[in-house]
Amino acid sequence: MKILMVCLGNICRSPLAEGILAHKTKQLDIEVDSAGTAAYHIGKFPDKRSIEIAKKYNIDLKSQRARQFSRADFDEFDIIYAMDTNNLAHLISLAKTEKEHKKIRLILNEINPGACESVPDPYYGGENGFQNVYNMLNEACDKIIQNIE
Ligand code: 4NP
Repeated sequence: MKILMVCLGNICRSPLAEGILAHKTKQLDIEVDSAGTAAYHIGKFPDKRSIEIAKKYNIDLKSQRARQFSRADFDEFDIIYAMDTNNLAHLISLAKTEKEHKKIRLILNEINPGACESVPDPYYGGENGFQNVYNMLNEACDKIIQNIE
């Protein structure tokens, strides 16, 4: 099972989602990666604030580097989670087949199915924003694992 987490820049939300799910699934046969729909931050480390909040929970994000989502990811991954509805719409616009469409999900729908809620973009906010994002992603990742097992 290969799971891809997708946000806009691949420096705040999706690196954290990748780190949390990878941490929780160490004993399972699951590969996790992340990407951004935008190209702004390609090659960069995750945002310091994401690194810090992850560290608080013993999760290391420092080996991650930002990359841009590419259509090849539709072949590579089984499930592609968008962090928000803008990125969901972007991914849907890139999908060409029914099979590709079916791989795309909104991550917070794991917690509240059908509610179509977004993980708020914490980039221009303060530390609380990152704690809030962590809490949401932590709960969503627990649900992802429950649904896989
Ligand atoms: P992310 O956050 O999509 O969670 O990585 C953002 C990072 C950078 C920008 C926006 C959101 N930016 O505009 O550069």
